Amino acid sequence: MKIIRATDYDDMSRKAAAVMAAQLTLKPNCVLGLATGSSPVGLYRQLIEWHQKGELDFSSASSINLDEYVGLSPDNSQSYRRFMNENLFHHVNIKPENTHVPNGLAADPKAECARYDALIREAGGIDMQLLGMGNNGHIGFNEPGEAFVKDTHRVALAQNTIEANKRFFESADEVPREAYTMGIGPIMLARRVLVVVSGAQKAKIVREALCGPITPAVPASILQLHPRVTLVGDAEALRAID
Ligand code: GLP
Repeated sequence: MKIIRATDYDDMSRKAAAVMAAQLTLKPNCVLGLATGSSPVGLYRQLIEWHQKGELDFSSASSINLDEYVGLSPDNSQSYRRFMNENLFHHVNIKPENTHVPNGLAADPKAECARYDALIREAGGIDMQLLGMGNNGHIGFNEPGEAFVKDTHRVALAQNTIEANKRFFESADEVPREAYTMGIGPIMLARRVLVVVSGAQKAKIVREALCGPITPAVPASILQLHPRVTLVGDAEALRAID
């Protein structure tokens, strides 16, 4: 694993954006695996800036997002589809039809999971998967458990995740209890993985994920087995790593 040390959130965002921009430049028709949460927002902002200066072209790229809340419509202000539209897609020239997020309103959850896995397969897998890390070590919404789940699945969110994500909602009660998430399989098959971590509250879990045992109790620990991971972290998030 390549660890890149950044000073703060802005520095992390710029450095990680440079890695993703290099991917887009090397392979303009690449498949980007994208993430939500606070961690990638600065990275997206930087990509938008470079695009607006004419330095980055998304016209041949496609994207496949990690996850979506069950029960939220694409235009719900808390949906991950809306997050992606507002934080990236509407500001760059990626074709809307080339962007993919699970459908939180799917009538048939099993069919939705199968559809998403087929979509990833048909895209030829993911060239670069961007990940944040939950406080409990989740990646996407792959929550701590007894086994790694390979395929897209519907998941009950951990209490810890509901607590962490309530900041985006009016109250904890409003946070959906379930989500669709890409499984560990396509993440581990991604040709490259880019992880962004920021802030002191991530220091403990970053250490467990990178230096502890590989266990489904810390889903991000599986990344120790991936041959091409770049982790960009700020000083606070990396302070427990030598
Ligand atoms: C969310 C998302 C994850 C994200 C994580 C960390 O629940 N489902 O994809 O990586 O939590 O979020 P943040 O970057 O805001 O700490």
